[in-house]
Amino acid sequence: MPKVFVFDHPLIQHKLTYIRDVKTGTKEFRELVDEVATLMAFEITREMPLEETEVETPVQLTKSKILAGKKLGIVPILRAGIGMVDGILKLIPAAKVGHIGLYRDPQTLKPVEYYVKLPADVAERDFILVDPMLATGGSAIEAVNSLKSRGATSIKFMCLIAAPEGVEALQQAHPDVDIYIAALDEKLNDHGYIVPGLGDAGDRLFGTK
Ligand code: URA
Repeated sequence: MPKVFVFDHPLIQHKLTYIRDVKTGTKEFRELVDEVATLMAFEITREMPLEETEVETPVQLTKSKILAGKKLGIVPILRAGIGMVDGILKLIPAAKVGHIGLYRDPQTLKPVEYYVKLPADVAERDFILVDPMLATGGSAIEAVNSLKSRGATSIKFMCLIAAPEGVEALQQAHPDVDIYIAALDEKLNDHGYIVPGLGDAGDRLFGTK
């Protein structure tokens, strides 16, 4: 089964409180999401493999470590996922960025892919799929389907806030995808919003309604 990791670092939790606050305006909301994405990227990369190399310091030749594993790909689910990309790139500037766009079919209510653009070497990369909110899990499941159907074999899912329903659904559909979150909230309401949540992440990031 996939593992669920809650990043309880005090800075992440502090900033998340202001992200949730209805009084936080677009500019500050965007900055805070960016900062939390950086902090979460720091945590999510903790297990990255290292290898030994040699480096010549001004004093002498010595052994030292560099990253050894696969290269990274970051994939935001459009549109709210975009708000987390720059924060991750601050720590991993060489990562390639793909995009997956999904809309909800008004008849079936199921997510339908309308845009996918990924790095060419999909199978060679470790992917971090990002969306601030894991609500029903429908979009995350479809986005993972989309990545896997194009050859991705290593995917982590990272979000700010998850509902138990979404975690359960994503775990069932993709047992190989670990889930990284800043907070696990209570539930979904009748409109599909996470409670207490933060409202509509896309609208709050982009100042739309
Ligand atoms: N998407 C959001 O932006 N907010 C929610 O609460 C649920 C899904």
